[in-house]
Amino acid sequence: MKAYVVRGGFGLDHVVQVDRPIPEPGPGQALVRLKALSLNSRDIGVIEGFYNPERTEGLIPVSDGVGEIVALGEGAARFKLGDRVCGIFTQSWIDGEPTPANWTSTLGSPLNGLLAEYAMLPEEGLVRVPDHLSDAEAATLPCAAVTAWHAVVEEGQVRAGDTVVVQGTGGVSMFALQFAKLQGAQVIVTSGSGEKLERALAMGADHGILYTEKADWENAVLAYTQGRGADHIVDVGGAATLNRSVAALRVGGRISIVGLLSGAAVEDFAIVPAILKKARLQAINVGSRAMFESMNRAIGHNGLRPAIDSVFPFDEAVEALRRLKTGSYFGKICITL
Ligand SMILES: NC(=O)c1ccc[n+]([C@@H]2O[C@H](COP(=O)([O-])OP(=O)(O)OC[C@H]3O[C@@H](n4cnc5c(N)ncnc54)[C@H](OP(=O)(O)O)[C@@H]3O)[C@@H](O)[C@H]2O)c1
Repeated sequence: MKAYVVRGGFGLDHVVQVDRPIPEPGPGQALVRLKALSLNSRDIGVIEGFYNPERTEGLIPVSDGVGEIVALGEGAARFKLGDRVCGIFTQSWIDGEPTPANWTSTLGSPLNGLLAEYAMLPEEGLVRVPDHLSDAEAATLPCAAVTAWHAVVEEGQVRAGDTVVVQGTGGVSMFALQFAKLQGAQVIVTSGSGEKLERALAMGADHGILYTEKADWENAVLAYTQGRGADHIVDVGGAATLNRSVAALRVGGRISIVGLLSGAAVEDFAIVPAILKKARLQAINVGSRAMFESMNRAIGHNGLRPAIDSVFPFDEAVEALRRLKTGSYFGKICITL
């Protein structure tokens, strides 16, 4: 089978296509013939040596994909041949709170990812995907969508009448927009691009703020909410946005700490404003299989469709990864096989 591995160093120039034998499923395992993949900024982080650099040589990158079950090992009974499934991001996190050991079972680092024609996964690490989604759409779910679902619905408990702020128009944020709307909230989107804001408004956002023109977007949020502040902010910016998120929050509101797009450490975090806001900071780490399954029910019942930026053929996977590095996309970048 064709597969990509990271070989001989870090960076996109070290992502090379290789030939590997198609694996045989052992007890409790399923062989999945991949049909589509989607990219997350973490995939670039893995390839560039930011995550688990000591485990990256020879690794198959990319955590998210969907495929068809083509062989089952002895005793594997959760699925049948032909079922369309996604691998869950954290393979061993089935339900409840995660344990530190779960973090050693994430796809695309430290475990091999899915940038290959076939993948062998334990049947426990798979979920069926909603029928109405195309392969590319279904491939977007494991990381970005489950993270947004965890932040907004499972942990965030966003309710009708709430105001939710999502930052930028990337994968997590566009899912967070859709899930917050599903809960009956109004959604404010910030973006560095007027054109992307228009697309977010077309997807159901209620208000857009161009942060390149209005760097103090927190004041625009306060103005839009008549001084009350937002009930929930999905913070993907990290270093440059967390203090502003606190400032944009209502008293007793929640911030989902999700991303680190502008840096992984906030050296000047202002504790007093956070105390005065009684801010509830909840850190999110993708989600469990149970969360993925309940999210899929919601997506299925409501006919939601993920925002897809572009779709590349498998042989142009490195070009797809290059597009991810540009930051000039809207929603998810996919690869089909
Ligand atoms: N904790 C978790 O479980 C988890 C799970 C998934 C992802 N993440 C992290 O969450 C972040 C977002 O992930 P993603 O997959 O949604 O990324 P993505 O699809 O690459 O989103 C990138 C978009 O975010 C916006 N952006 C970039 N820098 C920004 C900044 N400084 N402030 C505000 N917005 C900014 C831009 O949108 P505009 O051009 O519209 O401004 C950009 O196109 C990443 O740091 C990722 O590593 C964490």
